[in-house]
Amino acid sequence: MSNLKSGELMRMAAEAGTAIPGFNIPYLPMLEAVVNAIKDCNSFGLVMVARLEWEKFESKSPEAVAEEYRKFASELHTRLHLDHVPVIDEDNRRVDYMDIIRRAISSGYESVMIDGSHLPLDENIRCTKDVVEIAHASGIPVEAELGAVLGHEAGPLPPYDELFASGKGFTDPEEARIFSIESGADWLSVAIGNVHGAISAAARGKAKIEARLSLERLDQIRKRTGIPLVLHGGTGIRKEYVIESIRRGIAKINVATAIRQPYEASLAKGTIAAQDAVYEAMLKVINDELELKNSAEIFKKK
Ligand code: 13P
Repeated sequence: MSNLKSGELMRMAAEAGTAIPGFNIPYLPMLEAVVNAIKDCNSFGLVMVARLEWEKFESKSPEAVAEEYRKFASELHTRLHLDHVPVIDEDNRRVDYMDIIRRAISSGYESVMIDGSHLPLDENIRCTKDVVEIAHASGIPVEAELGAVLGHEAGPLPPYDELFASGKGFTDPEEARIFSIESGADWLSVAIGNVHGAISAAARGKAKIEARLSLERLDQIRKRTGIPLVLHGGTGIRKEYVIESIRRGIAKINVATAIRQPYEASLAKGTIAAQDAVYEAMLKVINDELELKNSAEIFKKK
């Protein structure tokens, strides 16, 4: 598998009924611990950074993360992914997303995400298509999002049980069908009960609610789209839902809060202690929560 590209790896994951976890890097020293844990578990994962992590945390820039990644990257175990580049950000500001995507492509990212989920369907399709055009010209797959994965906004979440029961903001299966055909996106992030961990300064240290997933909604989306599906907000979802969603077509699962909070909580003891805390949290996520120990073997079979 040594030279398999991210697009091929994700297709293999979807076909095998397994998932590739993506781990966010809001602080540069986390990266070494993240890669070491993936390697030590003989797992396979994406190392990721989202725009909000260099704007609101300390990962500095997509170029800085790419540079750090090159020091530790493992061809057998990791790839570099650009997470959430919003068209309209969590503070309701428009973003020059094409500039960020271009910078990421030229600094070595192997897949990118454009998040037009705050836009009406036709505008989301149009923005995603523009990104697909330049990314595909460089041989790079594109993840897009449809539906509202809440949690990054400044205010508090609406009561979770009400949100889940109403299905408000969940990805619409018919829209997903249209979107996947018309946008040309390679992977689709869906909203099926998952929520992001909070990132506002006031709430970022708080424990996440235990989310559930509508597996019925996932099945409906899966039936209508032929592309690998992505689950954001991977921290704290009830385990049986996570495992079943992977079996039913989630091929990538994003994890940030579960490894960021232990880093922040240990930082007073120094960077090494904080890196150790990330490493321990990674082992727990990979081995216990996602059950993806030894998943690198799946990608070696080619
Ligand atoms: P969590 O913070 O809930 O793990 O979500 C991460 C995520 O989806 C990043 O894109």
